[in-house]
Amino acid sequence: MTQEKILVTAALPYANGPIHLGHLSGAYLPADIYVRYQRLKGKDIIFICGSDEHGVPITISADKEGVKPKEIIDRYHKINKDAFEKFGMSFDNYSRTSLPIHHETGKEFFLEFYNRGILVEKKSQQFYDEKAKMFLPDRYVEGTCPICGYEEARSDECENCGSLYQPTELKNPKSKITGDMPVLKETSHWYFPLGKYQKRLEEYVKEMNEKYGWKDNVLQYCRGWFKEGLGDRAITRDLDWGIKVPIDSAEGKVLYVWFEAVLGYISSTKEWAKEKGDENLWRKYWQDASTKYIAFIGKDNIVFHSIIFPAFLMAWNDGEKEKYCLPQNVPANEFLNFEGKKFSKSRNWGIDVIDFLKIFPADPLRYTLAANLPETRDTDFYWKEFQLRNNSELADILGNFINRTFTFVHKHFDGKVPDKRKIEKIDAEMLNLILEYPSKVAALFEVYKIRDGVLEIMNLARAGNKYFNDSEPWKTVKTDKEKCATTLYVCMQAIYTLAELMLPVIPFSSEKIFKILNADKTSWDECGKENLKPGHQLNTPEIIFPKIEDEAIEKQMENLGKPEEKNEAKQIDLITYDEFMKIQLKVAEVTAAEKLEKSEKLLKLKIKLDNEERQVIAGIAKSYKPEDLINKKVVIVANLKPAKLMGLESQGMILAVEDELGGLKVLAVDNSIKNGTRVK
Ligand code: MF3
Ligand code: ZN
Repeated sequence: MTQEKILVTAALPYANGPIHLGHLSGAYLPADIYVRYQRLKGKDIIFICGSDEHGVPITISADKEGVKPKEIIDRYHKINKDAFEKFGMSFDNYSRTSLPIHHETGKEFFLEFYNRGILVEKKSQQFYDEKAKMFLPDRYVEGTCPICGYEEARSDECENCGSLYQPTELKNPKSKITGDMPVLKETSHWYFPLGKYQKRLEEYVKEMNEKYGWKDNVLQYCRGWFKEGLGDRAITRDLDWGIKVPIDSAEGKVLYVWFEAVLGYISSTKEWAKEKGDENLWRKYWQDASTKYIAFIGKDNIVFHSIIFPAFLMAWNDGEKEKYCLPQNVPANEFLNFEGKKFSKSRNWGIDVIDFLKIFPADPLRYTLAANLPETRDTDFYWKEFQLRNNSELADILGNFINRTFTFVHKHFDGKVPDKRKIEKIDAEMLNLILEYPSKVAALFEVYKIRDGVLEIMNLARAGNKYFNDSEPWKTVKTDKEKCATTLYVCMQAIYTLAELMLPVIPFSSEKIFKILNADKTSWDECGKENLKPGHQLNTPEIIFPKIEDEAIEKQMENLGKPEEKNEAKQIDLITYDEFMKIQLKVAEVTAAEKLEKSEKLLKLKIKLDNEERQVIAGIAKSYKPEDLINKKVVIVANLKPAKLMGLESQGMILAVEDELGGLKVLAVDNSIKNGTRVK
């Protein structure tokens, strides 16, 4: 029989900001626990993720910082990749949607649909910023809510009263880029006819649920969408950041980020296959009907993974090419809140993963989040609970059981696993309990009840402590050495089992326990058996779960919700005085000016500094006639690297401000100021 193949994906996070604890609880931690568990089961499994690097939020961030989108994605791809690594995410590949391999995949899907006539081309009216010369995505337009009059309403949604409306209904629309009133302009886009697939999608969801049991929250979302009725969805946008629409008539258009991001799972797998040295290896998972494909996501992504992505794959599969497998399950989680409120960057509410892991190790966080996963409803992260889970569960239950057993074995049995000489009822029961545990936990993990599984594992540690107490080895060591040996033998087996069952949850600590056990992990199904043989030499124990002090927690709670000073500085990008002084601003007199024939914008100027003349090409022809400028004293950047404009060298830049109509006014100073004077 061939091995069951499992493909696991976790939502590709936007490379637009650092991931926070909520992201971990929503999708990444449950996915990682599931994958690590399946690997121990011996399954042929790959775990795929990467950065989602297109879309409007990224261009907005870039605009805000005055940098190129590339700079934003490079920064956050690295931060998030590092954060995931430190957190112990065991992805087989973490890719990026800006890579050529992904662009090709996105184009391939678009063209397949386009060439087969699946897509519908439609014209619509969209806001256009005439000064910025671009169509404005919804998020770039703000105005007055047509319902309640709130003045900072979004283009299609009011934060104040919650109303939804058409962008055309918005009053006093303003472009967020120039502040101007945008005009409505016709544009044309390609739409994926989702409605045509509705029946098949309903059947698909029904069948998957019947066979594999989908989560209630996911089913409810799907039913909601089906009830509303699925319509055409635009899969292109007027934007210059993204995957270019690969047809001639589509200048200035890119694929809508949600069209291509989901395909990022496929391209990431392709990249993984290439790195493995077998370009086609990805097909073994994606294009084999027997693959079990599980897509882990947070609740805000449900429609894309349980309806839209499957529809794309159905459409593809209707064609002649190799067919893809659809998600068999989409175990979406609800949200994690932070101390009773939503995570909020601007209010400094919450904590980023990368910052968290600078202060505390990953495992206590993994355990706390896992014990509290928002699987059926929203849950909260509380600092106090984090401390309590670490101190009273990891340290006082699991850690204590391990410690007291190891210490005892080192003190009374030379650090060797004792022999079982005298199995009584209590011992047999304990061995039996240990034996049942792997399948007990597996039954929960298999149906994505990760939280229950994790809590169940801790119960085995609890049972271990109780068994130790009830067996009283500190007494039997004096009165009945055989019984004492048996007790410790059983405890050692329990520790081995715990180390393995806990491996998916707290991998770093589990590794430490195996090291002290001087043993390797085995398969999940074997780990409940008596794996440590009598006489097996153990290593010296160390504390595996240090306690977290009150002060460390209080410090975190004090900072919560306070504005971060360094953040504000970053936003307005403060420079030092020295940096400012690097820019030599000087007064210069215009001595000659003429229009450039080939350009409506540029003027060629001669200017005089103290004792030198320069030629400057300035983009002010629309605002000034050449003769108006003669003898004006303007301010120039005198140490700007010379640049060529229309083939002419420009030796400096004239400072100007924009007026309300988009015209330019040069910065002029009083004629009494001497040429070449420095402006400071
Ligand atoms: N970037 C999206 C988010 O963070 C998720 C994209 S999932 C994908 O919400 F499948 F589209 F990649
Ligand atoms: Zn409103």
